[in-house]
Amino acid sequence: MTIETEEDLKKLQIIGRIVALTIQEIGQHIRPGITTQELDDVGKCCLERHDAHSAPRKMYNFPGTTCISVNEEAAHGIPGPRVLQDGDIVNIDVSAERDGYYADAGHTFLVGASSEADQRLCRAAQQALLEAIQAARADQRLHLIGRSIEHVAKHYGYKTLRDLGGHGIGRSLHEEPSFIAGFFDRRDTRRLKEGQVITIEPFLSTKAHQTQLSSDGWTLLTPPNNRCAQFEHTLIITKDRPLVLTSLDT
Ligand code: CO
Ligand code: CO
Repeated sequence: MTIETEEDLKKLQIIGRIVALTIQEIGQHIRPGITTQELDDVGKCCLERHDAHSAPRKMYNFPGTTCISVNEEAAHGIPGPRVLQDGDIVNIDVSAERDGYYADAGHTFLVGASSEADQRLCRAAQQALLEAIQAARADQRLHLIGRSIEHVAKHYGYKTLRDLGGHGIGRSLHEEPSFIAGFFDRRDTRRLKEGQVITIEPFLSTKAHQTQLSSDGWTLLTPPNNRCAQFEHTLIITKDRPLVLTSLDT
């Protein structure tokens, strides 16, 4: 959507903050020995407390409140009996709706004693998100987002998953502009517009370029020895720096 009223802005800020708080609260519970179902229950409670609803459940009948993806799982992992182990890397992706407005964010956490390699992958993915946010401006080409992400990934020696990307959001979970690539696509001539609400979500990966759908029908997998990290924010495009809706720092 594109923001038109003060009400649009206010309502998006509210759901953006709820999503950010939910990820923070789940993050505080991450430790070796906890199951992904228990983490999802923390998220469910947090959304309920704020009168918000899980977007993937509402829109797609996803069998969980949040998406929790561990190690070789890149995205859309189903919460369940899987027990987190020391050294795991876990992505928490929360998208939710309140009063007809949607926000979506993701964060990758390291479980217990993590390896230097995984810490570096997470740092790179976080930097890719920051640089892509800085590159996003009204009237500029949308492909500058993917160019920034690819640039950071290459600098660190990582790949980006080419089949996953950002998207428009606001009045539903996925809107126009559809598929904001995490790589530089010069043929994509779309321009960003002032007031446009989008997500930016780089997926950095050690080896794989793309994912495969698991037999569970939801989880997007990379090969068993691959590691990936994703960070995501929902933001509003302006003539200057975007207004990030899903950060607790701003
Ligand atoms: Co998301
Ligand atoms: Co998203």
